[in-house]
Parts: sequence; C-alpha cells; structure tokens
Amino acid sequence: MADIVVRAGALTKTYSEENEKLEVLKGIDLEIRKGETVALMGPSGAGKSTLLHILGLMDSASSGNLELMGRKIEDLSETEADAIRNTQVGFLFQFHYLLPGLTLLENSALPLRIAGMENVQALQAAQGLLKSVGLEDRAHHLPSRVSGGEQQRAALARAMAAHPKFLICDEPTGNLDLERGKEIRDLIWALAKAEGTAVIVATHNPELAASADRVLRLVDGRVTEK
Ligand SMILES: Nc1ncnc2c1ncn2[C@@H]1O[C@H](COP(=O)(O)OP(=O)(O)OP(=O)(O)O)[C@@H](O)[C@H]1O
Ligand SMILES: [Mg+2]
Repeated sequence: MADIVVRAGALTKTYSEENEKLEVLKGIDLEIRKGETVALMGPSGAGKSTLLHILGLMDSASSGNLELMGRKIEDLSETEADAIRNTQVGFLFQFHYLLPGLTLLENSALPLRIAGMENVQALQAAQGLLKSVGLEDRAHHLPSRVSGGEQQRAALARAMAAHPKFLICDEPTGNLDLERGKEIRDLIWALAKAEGTAVIVATHNPELAASADRVLRLVDGRVTEK
C-alpha cells in the first residue's frame, strides 16, 4: 500500500566476533504507515538500537528485506541509500549530538544544507522549526549555553528540519527528567502528526510507550505486538 513508509521482512542480524556469533535479530517483520507512531520496547541488549540502525540505513541486516518509502533497499546503490538516509530519515538519540561550535539555529539548519539548500533559506526554515519546539528565543545560543531539555528540543528540530518521512528515536527521553521527557514526547508526537511522519521510538519508559499508536516488543530476536 502506498502509505506504508517502512516494511521489514524476516530481517536478521548476527554480529560476528573472533570465534563467537551473536544472533541479535532472528527474523523481524514490521510495517509502519504514514503518520503512525510506534514504540519499541524490550530488555536492555535485546537489539532495539541494532534494529533502529538497520531501519535508518546506518547499518545493514545480515539477511531479510527492507523497504523504505516503497524502495527496496537491497536494490539501491550506496549513493541512493545515502540520499534517502540524509533527506527522508530523521534521527533523535539519547544524547543530542549537536555540534558544539554551531548555534542551535545553525545546528537545526544542517540537514537542509546537506540536502543542498542555500544557507539563507536553510536558516529561515530552521528558524520556523525552532519556533515549533519553543526555542525561537534560544536560536543564537551555542548548545553549551542552553539546558538539557532545550538541547534535546533543538536536536528534534534538526531531526525534523528536512521534513523526513520517517523519524527514528532511540531513547529520546533517556537523559531527561520526567517533565522534560514529557515535553519532548509531546513535541515528537505533535510534529509527527502535523507532518504525517512515521515514527519509531525505542524506549524503556512505559508511559512514553503507552502514548504511541502501537507498542512493539523485541524479545529473543523477534518482535511481537502488544
Ligand atoms: N557493533 C557490535 N558488535 C558486536 N555486538 C554488538 C554490536 N552492537 C551491539 N552489539 C550487541 O548486540 C546486542 C543488542 O544490542 P543493542 O544495542 O541493539 O540493544 P538495545 O536493545 O538497544 O539495548 P539498550 O536498551 O541497553 O539500549 C547486545 O548484546 C550488544 O552487546
Ligand atoms: Mg539501545
């Protein structure tokens, strides 16, 4: 169907170290539609980050198939895969990874610059994004000069700057207190719903998970729906 953003079939991932093999993912099937928010739960070490890296084209599966926006990933050249990752997928992690020498505005504009937009337009667009996460007054501050919650909101603005079809969040509230965590959660959901973005959020936070449209559980290398 046209509105399926992510489709994974029988994905496996085995890490091979010297003489040991670690089979982390043993056959993952999942689909995420446009505008749908999905939480991914499971014990530490279950493979949540591994799966998110594969879905975001930051790592490859050992076997299985993956389609993003209807494109079969195994058929893409490296350049095409890079282009999809850079322009259609947004990432938000536990740590903000903002560049310390750039202002919040410049950080948020980076994905647009990478996508080839002129600096002035990119900064203008990023300003709008910063406003939507409540940071218009902090736009010209360096990351070190704002709070942890503000850093994470700027990271969300950056993740959404290029209007990705798919937003991948790996424990986005893991480093925040309860209130700041709720703020980020609400902003992720609001931006995603406004833009029709498909979202997957790995989290240990049951409250965050419960507020997603669906909850997937990754246990023993397989995903079950709760
Ligand atoms: N690059 C790697 N090489 C070898 N093993 C790895 C690598 N990355 C992850 N692993 C192993 O794969 C398993 C899954 O790790 P992963 O980080 O995906 O778990 P997780 O579910 O995200 O855990 P957490 O909730 O603690 O973040 C772990 O046993 C981990 O040690
Ligand atoms: Mg993880």
